Amino acid sequence: MTTPDGARPGELSSPVGAAARTGMMRPEIASSESTTSHDVAAEPSLFIIFGGTGDLARRKLLPALWTLYRRGLAPGCVVLGTSRDAGMDDAGFRRLAADAVRAAEPTADAAAVTAWTERFLHYQHPDEEYADLRARIESLEREHALPARRAFYLALPPAAVPETVEKLGAAGLTKSAGWTRVVVEKPFGRDLESARALNALLHRWYDESQVYRIDHYLGKETVQNLLVFRFANAMFENLWNRDHIESVQITVAETVGVERRAGYYERAGAVRDMVQSHLAQLLALVTMEVPSEFAAGAIRAEKLKALCAVAPVDCRAGAVVLGQYAPGVLDGHHVPGYREEPGVAPGSRTETFVALRLHLENWRWQGVPFYLRTGKRMERRLTEIEVKFRRAPVWMFRTVRQEELARNTLVLQLQPDEGFSLYFDVKMPGEPFRIRRVPLDFLYAEAFEDVPEAYETLLLELLTGDQTLFVHADEVEASWSLFGPLLDAGLPVHPYPAGSWGPNEAAALSSRADEGAASPAARG
Ligand code: BG6
Repeated sequence: MTTPDGARPGELSSPVGAAARTGMMRPEIASSESTTSHDVAAEPSLFIIFGGTGDLARRKLLPALWTLYRRGLAPGCVVLGTSRDAGMDDAGFRRLAADAVRAAEPTADAAAVTAWTERFLHYQHPDEEYADLRARIESLEREHALPARRAFYLALPPAAVPETVEKLGAAGLTKSAGWTRVVVEKPFGRDLESARALNALLHRWYDESQVYRIDHYLGKETVQNLLVFRFANAMFENLWNRDHIESVQITVAETVGVERRAGYYERAGAVRDMVQSHLAQLLALVTMEVPSEFAAGAIRAEKLKALCAVAPVDCRAGAVVLGQYAPGVLDGHHVPGYREEPGVAPGSRTETFVALRLHLENWRWQGVPFYLRTGKRMERRLTEIEVKFRRAPVWMFRTVRQEELARNTLVLQLQPDEGFSLYFDVKMPGEPFRIRRVPLDFLYAEAFEDVPEAYETLLLELLTGDQTLFVHADEVEASWSLFGPLLDAGLPVHPYPAGSWGPNEAAALSSRADEGAASPAARG
C-alpha cells in the first residue's frame, strides 16, 4: 500500500530520525542515543530546481544536496536545474554548483565536488509548454535508471509560482509512476485570500500529500528539539500548562537589516516575513497538545488545533506595536535606517519590528499571555522561547521578599548558542540569608559535534517522503486568519534606533515588563 504520493505508509520518519542521520553525537553520550528505524538514505530520485541558478539554489539547495550526497544520505539523487538564465547549459550549471559548494564549504574536496557535478547535475532551459523539459526528465530517468521519483522545487519569486504550477499540470508532470512532490517556498500568499487561492491552485493538480511547504525554521535542529523536549521529558510536560506557567515569550531578534531584499521586503514587512510564518510555527510547537503518534498527520493536526485556539489578535495600538529601524550603532558601527537602505521608499511605512500579546482559549492555556517579538537590526541576534513559571504558592523565607526574585524560568535558546537554561533560586553560601538566581545550562555545542543545516534536514525529509517538518495548507490559512488583520489595522509604525531592542512603545509587551526590562538580554 502507498500513500497518494507514492511513499510507503508508516515510513514517516520522526524529525529526530533526520537529526540522528545527519548529526554526530559526542562519544560520551552516544550510548544513550536513540535512533529511529528510518536511518536510511533517500531512494534514488530526480530533484528538479526551478530557479536553479538563483540565490536560494546557490546559497542553500545545491550545498545541501552536495552535503547529503557526501554523507551518503542521498546517493542516487540526480539534479536538474532549470531557469530563465539565457546562457546557461550543463557545463555552466556544474560550475555554478561547484562554486556554490565551495562558498558554503570552503574545505570541500574539489575533485569530489567536480565528480559529483559531472555525474549527477544537469541543466535544461524551460520551454513554453514544458514539452522539452518533460522529455529531458524522461531521458535522465532512463540514463540514471530512475523509476520516476520526482521532486520539483519551486525556488521562484512568488509571482512566478502559479504559472509554473499550471504549466507542470498541463504538461502532465504532477504525477508519475514512482512519486511526484512539489516544494513551495515562503512567502505562502500575501494574505488569507491569496494563500487560499494558491492552495486551491495546488490542490487542482496535486494531492496535499504531494505538497511540501517550506518554513526553514522547522528544519532547525533546536526547533525540532522542541517536540522531543516536550514529549520525551515528562518532567517538563507535566508543568506545561496554565497551572504552572505564568507567561511565554517568543523572541526572534536579528542584527541584519533588510540587506539587498528591499524589492521583496517593502511589500512584505515583518508581520508577513516573520510573524505569520516562523513565529506562528514556534507558537504552534510550544502550545500544541500531545499528538497521538509521532507522525506527520498527527503532529500537523495538533499544530493546527493550537493555532485555531488562539483568540483573535487584539489589533489596537498598545496591544500590538510595530516599529521600523532608524539609523543607529550596531557592534560599534553606524548603520543606516531602513528608509536609507537601497530600494526602500524614503517615506516607507513598512514595519521591521513587531511585538504583540495573544492568548489561547483552551484548557491548557486559558489566561496565559504569549508575547511574540521580532525585529531586524536589534542589539543582538537571538531566537529564544522563554517560559516563565508561577511563583511558589507560599513564601517562607521572611528575610527575602519574594517579589524581589524573578520567577523560575526556562529559556530554550534556538540560535545562536543553541541549548536551554533553567533559572532557579539557590541559597548563597554564608550569612546573611540570601537567595540568588542561577542557571542550569545545556549547550548543544558541548554535547554534539555537528548540527546539520536546516535545508539539509528538510531536503532529506522531502526525499524520504516525510511531511512532518512541512506546513500543511490548513496551518497556513489558520496563521493568515490570525495575523492577517494586523495588516489592515492601520497601526502606527514607531522608529527605533538600529542596535536597540525596538521602540519604547513596545516595553509593556514583554513578559519581563514587571521586572523593568523589555529586552531578552536583560535576564539573569
Ligand atoms: C527568512 C526571512 O524567512 O528568515 C528573513 O525572509 C529572515 O527576513 C530569515 O532574515 C531569518 O532566518 P534565520 O534562519 O537567520 O533565523
